[in-house]
Amino acid sequence: MSPRRLFVTTALPYANGHFHIGHIMEYIQADIWVRFQRMQGHEVHFVCADDAHGAPIMIAAEKAGKTPQQFVADIAAGRKPYLDGFHIGFDNWHSTDGPENHQLAQDIYRALKANDLIETRTIEQFFDPEKNMFLPDRFIKGECPKCGTKDQYGDNCENCGAVYAPTDLKSPYSALSGATPVLKQSDHFFFKLSDPRCMAFLDQWTQSGAVQPEVLNKISEWIEPGEDGKPKMGDWDISRDAPYFGIEIPDAPGKYFYVWLDAPIGYLASLKNYFDKTGRDYDAFMADPGTEQFHFIGKDIITFHTLFWPAMLKFSGRKVPNAVFVHGFLTINNGEKMSKSRGTGLNPLKYLELGMNPEWLRYYLAAKLSGKNEDVDFNPEDFMARVNSDLVGKFINIASRAAGFIAKRFDGKLGEVSADGDALLDHLEVAAPSITELYAEREYGKALREIMLLADRVNAYVDQNKPWELAKKEGMEGRLHDVCTTCIEAFRLLTLYLKPVLPALAKDVEAFLNTEPLQFADANRLLGAGHRIGAYQHLMQRVDVKQLDALFEPPPAPAVELVVPGGEPIADTISIDDFSKIDLRIALIVNCEAVEGSTKLLRLTLDVGEGKTRNVFSGIASAYQPEDLVGKLTVMVANLAPRKMKFGVSEGMVLAASHADDNAEPGIHILNPWPGATTGMRVR
Ligand code: 2FM
Ligand code: ZN
Repeated sequence: MSPRRLFVTTALPYANGHFHIGHIMEYIQADIWVRFQRMQGHEVHFVCADDAHGAPIMIAAEKAGKTPQQFVADIAAGRKPYLDGFHIGFDNWHSTDGPENHQLAQDIYRALKANDLIETRTIEQFFDPEKNMFLPDRFIKGECPKCGTKDQYGDNCENCGAVYAPTDLKSPYSALSGATPVLKQSDHFFFKLSDPRCMAFLDQWTQSGAVQPEVLNKISEWIEPGEDGKPKMGDWDISRDAPYFGIEIPDAPGKYFYVWLDAPIGYLASLKNYFDKTGRDYDAFMADPGTEQFHFIGKDIITFHTLFWPAMLKFSGRKVPNAVFVHGFLTINNGEKMSKSRGTGLNPLKYLELGMNPEWLRYYLAAKLSGKNEDVDFNPEDFMARVNSDLVGKFINIASRAAGFIAKRFDGKLGEVSADGDALLDHLEVAAPSITELYAEREYGKALREIMLLADRVNAYVDQNKPWELAKKEGMEGRLHDVCTTCIEAFRLLTLYLKPVLPALAKDVEAFLNTEPLQFADANRLLGAGHRIGAYQHLMQRVDVKQLDALFEPPPAPAVELVVPGGEPIADTISIDDFSKIDLRIALIVNCEAVEGSTKLLRLTLDVGEGKTRNVFSGIASAYQPEDLVGKLTVMVANLAPRKMKFGVSEGMVLAASHADDNAEPGIHILNPWPGATTGMRVR
């Protein structure tokens, strides 16, 4: 069988916040599938991007005093620790605001237009006369037309659940300016999804196996003709008026694509960006009928991915997705409010910062995931039990029980496997097709259950043969070698089966077993007699309940309440990563002088061991005579951007202690390290 060529994506996260655990679950689900396909020898390209456009991001950027581009870039800069931390191996991370996406979105639009699938209609919408912009539904508030509750959003009431149009609200106001919105007409572009060609195509595509059965049921409601002969799903408004952060619509000044039009096109844009960077041919890859396209998404964005997106692709003459894989939501403790001491959410960065093993989470989520669109629950007790008793207790233990004897008694070399060991290994090997089938179907929970049953068999074999007793008996050397060899061979195979879920652990095992990267094609290839393995080092710790307690501990109360006598409130909590961005160095004060024209500043000449000196102005003149500081060591921020001041450029900052008001008693005190610290040392 020749290798398949797969293009795989996860949903593109909005660039207005950091990842939450729901994103991480989706990425882990997709990453396992991608790693599995690669272990089958297939070619896989796995990409994602920031979903950059839309009114909410534009408005959030404005509030933060940034351009939308800068705002999005700042969010993007924080993605890496999560992705690396959980071993999520995207080949590329791009942005829907990239040039590829502008080009592709405009090309697709032109093709749809040429196909007579774009129509202009005049609509009436609320307009904020102060902000001079049309208001998205989320930014209009008012009284619920049904129950009269105040301050409800423009699309539905949180009190009585009524769904309505923003124009139905009583006493509407703009959530941006507070102004009373006025109704204003505007020309909008619609994608004619209800066109019979689209409906016929979607009918065929959705029945082709591209969606899960439970998803198909939902879709049928939308596309089957109703009593009036028309589908429930109407045409789709794809334009927005300026000001809007998005992609300009060709030949329509002041009109932009609605964010949901260009977002999925971002899948293609990220792939194109990746291919261009790595010298591959994007057009040829996408034109190849053998290329398969798969999207992992959550259940809240089904319509966009199973109706609009395939239709856009189809009628712009492109490849349509082979499948859209829908997953449910992640709940914590069945969505119950967690007890006070346990907090309410699972913060992925906190998980990593607590030193919790990312592969525990990968394993646990995989154990709960199926190929169906159903919710997954994270339960802390269950998490600890599965990791400690299955992953460590059943699997890791196999290696730890056998490896020591191989090292100590047999010079690290494997021996022959006798008949009963062979039978055990055969039993493990014949499971390969069913395990691969389960991975392919995203039935990870079932796959792991099957693998753990195999681990049970191996442990039963160990318990029968008791290598620790064989080791003490005279003349049982051969049998000990045989039993331990069988265990190591079994451990290799179990590791191979678990590798899509536990890539980092598998890498450690490959090093320990002194073997090539494990692939499914090698399932029935043994390490063999005479093969030398490395020294065993403990491969995985157990979960400690204290870590879980810390993970779910509610964040500290707002710092403003902690007023220190005479001092300032403690600032907001930062992560260790935030702190390590600041490069603090021991600096030698080579020279120090008064600054003419300033009563506050001293000019310091500092050496931080980089082969040149730096000029730093510091507001400490009220506290020190210049000559008293020369020759002393202090601490400086060495990577602060140079700052142009009235008296010259300051190339850093020295640290000093004071109250918020520098002039208050007891004044300013610059830091001085304990004896032993030398110029250029990093302070951490
Ligand atoms: O729902 C969301 O978070 C969207 N940002 C998903 C976009 S997926 C794709 F279409 F880009
Ligand atoms: Zn109401």
